[in-house]
Amino acid sequence: MKRFTLSLALSGLIISPLSLADEKLDGKLATYRNTMKELGGGLLTELSAALKEGGPNKAIEVCHTKAPQAGAKVADKTGFKVGRTSLKPRNPQNAPDAWEEGVLKKFEERKAAGENPQNLEYHEVIEKDGQRQVRYMKAVPTVELCVACHGTDIAPDIQAKLKELYPEDKATGFQVGELRGAFTLTETLPAKPKE
Ligand code: HEC
Repeated sequence: MKRFTLSLALSGLIISPLSLADEKLDGKLATYRNTMKELGGGLLTELSAALKEGGPNKAIEVCHTKAPQAGAKVADKTGFKVGRTSLKPRNPQNAPDAWEEGVLKKFEERKAAGENPQNLEYHEVIEKDGQRQVRYMKAVPTVELCVACHGTDIAPDIQAKLKELYPEDKATGFQVGELRGAFTLTETLPAKPKE
């Protein structure tokens, strides 16, 4: 079995999840959850404030510049790579990689099977290009606040601004309760000592 996973790892393929105990993931999970909560909560506060003060056009600035900045700040503080992704991204830079795409699709299936979208999360230890990584994702449901910029009835001035900034925008037409996307986190683990 060991040889099998090793050869897969060497071929650069993603391998199956390792056991929780193996990586002491229980403790880590709490840290990941807190990191995402901080990031998500911070963005939501800024977004609401900007919407109230300057309306959607000001709030677009928050999403456009502050969200990536907040991600970079978290990365500096924790060493984790964090971001936001979606099956229908507004910014092509947020497009999911193969692993993230698979998880986003599973989130949709789990939601369809009746799970509460607020609680959808997933983690896995994977091996990518010879490096072991813990990857964690937390689903982001669409709430009322979001549809001003991601819904079906977007005001013309916002539409114009979005078109200018994101000519490849796929992130419209969402209804409250649908999954808008997910927060995503990667921690690269130190190399395993040779046995
Ligand atoms: C004022 C307009 C606006 C509102 C309101 C808004 N967003 Fe966005 N959203 C954007 C913009 C602009 C981007 C692209 C940001 C970037 O360039 O990374 C974005 C990107 C995202 C992304 C990253 C994936 C992608 O599509 O690029 C997620 C996830 C997301 N929004 C979720 C939400 C959720 C959930 C809400 C409600 C809580 C929300 N947004 C409210 C404008 C908005």
